Amino acid sequence: MNFNQIFITATGTDVGKTFISSLLLRARKDWTYWKPVQTGGSAIDQNAVHEVAPLAVIANLRNYEYELPASPDQAAAAEFALAPSVDDLLKLVAGQQKLLIEGAGGLMVPLNDQNETWLDFLQASRIPVVLVASSGLGTINHTLLSIEALQSRSIPILGLVLNGPEHRGNQKSIARFHPRIPQIVIPQVGSDTALSELDRLGDQIWHKISILRNEAQKSEAWLKKDKDYVWHPYTQHKTAPRPVPIVAARGSYLYTDEDEKLLDASASWWTCTIGHGHPRIAAAIRAQQAKLDHCGFGNATHQPGSELAARLIALAGKPFSKVFYSDNGSCAVEVALKMAVQTWTNRNQTKRSKFLYFEGAYHGDTFGAMAVAESGGFHKAFAPYVFKGIEAPLVTSHPSRICPGGSAELEPRKKNLRKIFEEQGEEMAAAIIEPWIQGAGGMIIQDLDWLRYLAELCQEFKVLLIFDEVFTGLGRIGDVFAYKRAGITPDIFCLAKGLTGGNLPLAATLVTSEIFEAFLDDDGSKALLHGHTFTGNPIACAAALASLDILREQDLVAKAKLIEQSFKTWIEWHEKRLGLIAPRAAGAILAFELDSGGYFHNAAYQIPDLGRSHGLMLRTLGSTVYFVPSLMITSDELEQGLIALRQTIEDYRETNRSF
Ligand SMILES: Cc1ncc(COP(=O)(O)O)c(C=O)c1O
Repeated sequence: MNFNQIFITATGTDVGKTFISSLLLRARKDWTYWKPVQTGGSAIDQNAVHEVAPLAVIANLRNYEYELPASPDQAAAAEFALAPSVDDLLKLVAGQQKLLIEGAGGLMVPLNDQNETWLDFLQASRIPVVLVASSGLGTINHTLLSIEALQSRSIPILGLVLNGPEHRGNQKSIARFHPRIPQIVIPQVGSDTALSELDRLGDQIWHKISILRNEAQKSEAWLKKDKDYVWHPYTQHKTAPRPVPIVAARGSYLYTDEDEKLLDASASWWTCTIGHGHPRIAAAIRAQQAKLDHCGFGNATHQPGSELAARLIALAGKPFSKVFYSDNGSCAVEVALKMAVQTWTNRNQTKRSKFLYFEGAYHGDTFGAMAVAESGGFHKAFAPYVFKGIEAPLVTSHPSRICPGGSAELEPRKKNLRKIFEEQGEEMAAAIIEPWIQGAGGMIIQDLDWLRYLAELCQEFKVLLIFDEVFTGLGRIGDVFAYKRAGITPDIFCLAKGLTGGNLPLAATLVTSEIFEAFLDDDGSKALLHGHTFTGNPIACAAALASLDILREQDLVAKAKLIEQSFKTWIEWHEKRLGLIAPRAAGAILAFELDSGGYFHNAAYQIPDLGRSHGLMLRTLGSTVYFVPSLMITSDELEQGLIALRQTIEDYRETNRSF
């Protein structure tokens, strides 16, 4: 929570929020007052504040003031003046300390003709709210509605000030709904009220609204529970440092319990394509949960599952015709592998049972996914239990640990691949690859001629081609799917990570009608006998539909290409100066190595901490440093993020020079 700023709002106009602001300012002289939007004349509320709190300091920030007493959108339009936007307001409040901001009207008042409201501003800024209501008759409904609106956006409510003659009945009713929101009753005051009484009332409000603040800072208690009870993924608990305590996320940023703002440079394990906390996704999730939360997808169906399948097939285009849902990337891959094998057994071609996979591959951590992943590394402990496929080398477009010569190795490696197909092609059910870029293996970009050659060989030897687009799909690569950008069509492809915009677990495996038809038979055992309890969960499907809307409306595919350009420019500027090894960019993915010291080089250990000191939440993949932000990142945020990345690498170079 952002405790350097407080926002005063009310259940409507004329309930006394300016007066309450004045009381707060009387009691804390080090806070400054800002009324960003004023309609019906200029400086009206500032003057009113000065009547009660003559010493109050007015913030030296831009105000949007209009003569017309109307909502800001209407007043601005009538006066042909600039209306406030959430972005502008966010820039103005950035970095301000001890700022008391008074809203204009209630929470849903439109600020501009883009329908932005104070709720949008509060959600984005994470500024906690003091809600002012009149204590008398008719207040319950408006108060509860305002609280519901704030809570639905996870906007912290520090307290409810009931202004006017005491009404115990209203207080009790509201407290029954919201026992944890501190209530402060401010009785009616007149011009004869003693100044000391005004100070006492102000102090009383500060005291009550600090309760939540003190509670929110008690992260030690739940961090101890984490230490005592949680087993984290990919973590050696004997030596691992304390995990970063994240308490909130908005847009491109994560926030720690200490209100440290960190740019989410791995988009939360590459899921968060549309930024954190998007209100459209939140609304879709809420609405779907209220309508239909879950039902088994075996012999039942629902609208979001059907709509989403149709949307994905429309995006994929021909020859894709069916979507199979699961919960995560590993499962989407398991499903694809099972589909491939069973396609052949259903066609009575049981000899085709092997999978071809590639060095550097990662497709998840379940047993099937491990079978088609690079040997060693994360999966070493399970090697004896994994039915291994056929591992082949690939050609990368840059020098890499799996292809040191990069594209120069194209011709010999093509020959080698053909030999593998000639010798074992008839036993292969499918070849599986992360197209264009292998993520977890170290953000390794393939030589596209080599990828096309693989597709040709699959056709020639009638081997099914599976593309694992769990990472690359849905905009990340600079096209809706990597296979489209590469101009190669697989038989099966997998989606997960960004499917719900990073909000809920959902995965999909898409197939051509040829594959689907191999499962149609009077014999029930030829069906795909696979499923998960949460297959096609309606809430996740609703989130995915909203996320696809945003992807299209915001043209995030084009945005990913713009990000790629920024990354390429950054590389041009910094490659030599920072000593980057094999810097590369594809879509909204930037990666490089710092040393040729192998996968477990010390960059892995130092970079996240150094990055954090520059406001970045970075993860590394062995010796590979990568920057994979949300596709919604603004150009300012991207610029700042890339400056922070440069500073991080400079620190790394500096630190390692002294060893
Ligand atoms: C390409 C690819 N496939 C599959 C997976 C596994 O997905 P999940 O972690 O959701 O099981 C990942 C995860 O990073 C991935 O990058």
